Amino acid sequence: RNLTSISEVYKDYFMIGNAVSTSDFAGDRLTLLKGHHNLVTAENAMKPDSAYNNRHFDFNAEDMFVQMALDEGLAVHGHVLVWHQQSPEWLWADDAGESLAREDALVNLRTHIETTVAHFGDSVISWDVVNEAMNDNPPNPEDWQGSLRQSGWLQAIGPDYIEESFRIAKDVIDQNGWDIKLYYNDYNDDNQQKAEAIYQMVKEINENYAAENDGELLIDGIGMQGHYNINTNPENVRLSLEKFASLGVEVGVTELDVTSGSDGEQTEEELNQQAYLYARLFQIYRDNHEHISRITFWGLDDGSSWRSDQSPLLFDRNMQAKPAYYAVINPD
Ligand code: XIL
Repeated sequence: RNLTSISEVYKDYFMIGNAVSTSDFAGDRLTLLKGHHNLVTAENAMKPDSAYNNRHFDFNAEDMFVQMALDEGLAVHGHVLVWHQQSPEWLWADDAGESLAREDALVNLRTHIETTVAHFGDSVISWDVVNEAMNDNPPNPEDWQGSLRQSGWLQAIGPDYIEESFRIAKDVIDQNGWDIKLYYNDYNDDNQQKAEAIYQMVKEINENYAAENDGELLIDGIGMQGHYNINTNPENVRLSLEKFASLGVEVGVTELDVTSGSDGEQTEEELNQQAYLYARLFQIYRDNHEHISRITFWGLDDGSSWRSDQSPLLFDRNMQAKPAYYAVINPD
C-alpha cells in the first residue's frame, strides 16, 4: 500500500499522534502507526490504575510501552496523572468510600505525581496533568470553581487540587531541567459554556503563577480531546480553539474521533458526512497551526476504537483507508 503519510503532509504544522497499546507495535498495525504518525499516547497503559500494584508503584508495563515507542522513533505524550476514572480510589477515599482528610489526599496527590513524573522523566514530551475536571455545559462558566465536576479529588481537597497538581509536576520538571509540557485535557471542548469555564480556570491559575514567577506559564497547554460526531459544528471547535490560544498556551487535539453510523456499519452518506467534518476540522487546525502542537487520533482503526460501533476513525476494520483519510490528507 502506498498511501500519502499524514504526518508527512502536516510536518510543517504539527505532530500527528495516535492512541495505542503495546500490541500495536507489530505487523500491519505498526506499519500504519509509523507510516502516518510521529507521536503516541498510551490508550490505557499510563493511567493511574496502571501505576500501582497493591498500593505500591509498579511501572513495568508502562516502561515496556514507552520503550517500544521510543525504539520506533515515536515521541510519547503522557496520559494521565490526575483523573476521576481508571484511578485507585484509595488515593482520595478510605475503604468505606469516605473522602480522606484534605492533608492526607494532598500527600497522596503529591506522591503520585512526583513519583510518576520523576520516573518517566523526559522520555515523555508532555503530560496530561489533569483530565476532565470540568462539568458538562456548566450554566455559570464565569465561576469555574463552581463548574468543577464533583470528583473524589475535588471532594477531598477542594478546587485548588488542580493548581496543586500542576505545581507539583512543574517543580519536578524544573528541578531536573527537563522540557516537558503540562496540559489540562477535557472533552466536549466544542461546548462554549464548558470552553469558557476551562478558559477562566487556566487564565486564573496561570496569572497567579506568572505573578510569582516572572510571567512563566504553569499550564503550558490545553488539550481538546475532540470526541466529536457528525453533528458537531466545526465553528464551535474553531471558537474554542481561538479562545484557548488567546491565553498564550499551546493547544493539543488529543483524542480525535468522529462517530458516524451504528453497529459498525456506515452508509455511503455517513462515510461522506464524516469525511466532510474531518476536512473542516483539518482546515481549522491548519489555519491555527501556530497555536497547535499536535493532532492525536484516538485509535488506529474502527475495529479497535473505543467507539467501534460508530466507526469513528480514518481506517476501517480491514485497515483500509476511508473517505475520512482522504479528507485529512487533502481537506480542500
Ligand atoms: C478510554 C479508552 O479508549 C478505553 O479503552 C477505556 O476503556 C476507557 O478510556 N477520555 C480520555 C481517555 O481521556 O483516557 C478515554 O480512553 C476516552 C475519554
